[in-house]
Amino acid sequence: MWFKRELSLPFTNRPLAEHNTLSSNHSKLRHKYFLQISLILALLFLTGTYYSRSKYEFTGILTSPPLGIPERVQRQWGQYSPWFPNKEYEYPPEGCEITQVNILQRHGARFPNADDKYVKSVQRLMRANKFVDSKLDFLREYQYDLEEEELLPFGASQSFEAGGAVFRRYAHLISEKILPFVRASGKNRVIHSATNWTVGFASATHQRINPTVTVIIPEDQNNTLHNICPNAGDGSKEKEAWLKVFSPPIIKRLQKAAPGASIAEEDVFNLMAMCPFESLAKQRASEFCSLFTDDEFKEFEYHGDIEKYYKTGYGESLGPVQGVGYVNELIARLTGRPVEDHTQHNDSLPFPLGRTLYADFTHENLMVAVYSAMGLYNITDDPLSTKKMDKDRIWVASRMVPFSSRMVVERLACQVDRASRFIIRPERTDVERSEDSDDGRQMKEYVRVLVNDAVQPLKFCGAGKHGICTLDAFIESQAYAQRNGDGDFEKCYN
Ligand SMILES: *[C@@H]1O[C@H](CO)[C@@H](O)[C@H](O)[C@H]1NC(C)=O
Ligand SMILES: *[C@@H]1O[C@H](CO)[C@@H](O)[C@H](O)[C@H]1NC(C)=O
Ligand SMILES: *[C@@H]1O[C@H](CO)[C@@H](O)[C@H](O)[C@H]1NC(C)=O
Ligand SMILES: *[C@@H]1O[C@H](CO)[C@@H](O)[C@H](O)[C@H]1NC(C)=O
Repeated sequence: MWFKRELSLPFTNRPLAEHNTLSSNHSKLRHKYFLQISLILALLFLTGTYYSRSKYEFTGILTSPPLGIPERVQRQWGQYSPWFPNKEYEYPPEGCEITQVNILQRHGARFPNADDKYVKSVQRLMRANKFVDSKLDFLREYQYDLEEEELLPFGASQSFEAGGAVFRRYAHLISEKILPFVRASGKNRVIHSATNWTVGFASATHQRINPTVTVIIPEDQNNTLHNICPNAGDGSKEKEAWLKVFSPPIIKRLQKAAPGASIAEEDVFNLMAMCPFESLAKQRASEFCSLFTDDEFKEFEYHGDIEKYYKTGYGESLGPVQGVGYVNELIARLTGRPVEDHTQHNDSLPFPLGRTLYADFTHENLMVAVYSAMGLYNITDDPLSTKKMDKDRIWVASRMVPFSSRMVVERLACQVDRASRFIIRPERTDVERSEDSDDGRQMKEYVRVLVNDAVQPLKFCGAGKHGICTLDAFIESQAYAQRNGDGDFEKCYN
């Protein structure tokens, strides 16, 4: 797998400064990068990418390096899944032009968090008197060696790719004069995701356009890119309830395979989590993956769905309010009017209006709060059960907030007729037609929202089959945010 090593080179352990200064030995680096980028481009062609026939450019996306694990399995890792598109990106209908793009993106794949006790669970399993199942043989020589908290090379590469993909998709919005405006929440892995994204963006422009991360918001302050609400629940009660449902048969099997090891419910979750975390860190299939069945990983995934739902989602009464600050900032950008927010927006930080492309880097819990403040994936009437998994649910963490996940809000200018119907015939014919009849043609502003490339239904502002709402209807639908969360923000503190 020589190319894996090659591909991960640009992302590892290089301080940001190297990318932003123009020293002479830098041009050597540049040259090296150029070769690697060419390699990436070559790979793009070899890995089933495609050309879009639209007026826009190349839209291929590379979702590697490969991990040696089928995609179907990787998608069952809940919020620990690597990024995959939920759908093939589709441009808005003919006659609509994208005039602004707002990206809210989760950091890329990371090491386990410092308070995850995966190593303890692994040690507990290793303390068995013997291993009866050969799938556990690897533990005889096993050494836990995962680091903590930081962005992984894999996560850096998905962030890099995302930056390039954004330039290729929205090149018409960007020039040397109109740069993307980029912010990050103040955690290392989030900042590194943002900087790797800017490097990916710049390399897609052949270094013609070099965005930088302009604002880093510390996480110990009120921060619209970080979920903060001291009085909010965190879903642990609900997670425990579900763990009690699905872990007993797994405990029984592991006890039998590793007599003498004393495996508890939380160990089941931790040992299953070793599969994504070790695979993503080492970029090869972790042996822990083969200790569990596909169906068990579906139950593991549901555990993540429950956590997100009852932490900052609709299942926690103080969840959605944590996303209100970002939504109010989004409204400001879409309308070009100053931010009106009494939650977490900090007025003294730079917040330019009138830009065409905004990219904000954050955590998944904040993204879930934003979805829930906006009304996306609204399953309030059919909440997640902690007893039974609904196979047809739409609330699925691996699709909503995998590593490097992104919500994109596109503002559109569309040609419509008098009845506000989109004029979706090819433009030229349309112009000819309109010359001899005044059919009330005009431009109108619209919005659509994509989560991991899938257009969201936006029923709450009256969207039809294209998932498009008028800008006015969309803004109106964001009443909870505009009312600053109906007093919920204050409840976070008193
Ligand atoms: C990219 O992310 C890695 C972490 O994997 C970090 O060490 C590196 O400094 C980042 N590079 C840039 C240009 O931000
Ligand atoms: C807002 O940001 C400024 C500049 O970083 C900082 O000094 C200030 O403490 C922040 N305000 C709040 C309320 O967090
Ligand atoms: C955030 O704002 C609230 C309400 O104004 C305040 O009570 C709280 O102390 C602030 N939090 C931080 C971390 O500054
Ligand atoms: C979610 O759905 C519920 C019930 O249909 C509704 O009352 C609520 O306003 C919706 N939430 C948002 C943010 O749109």
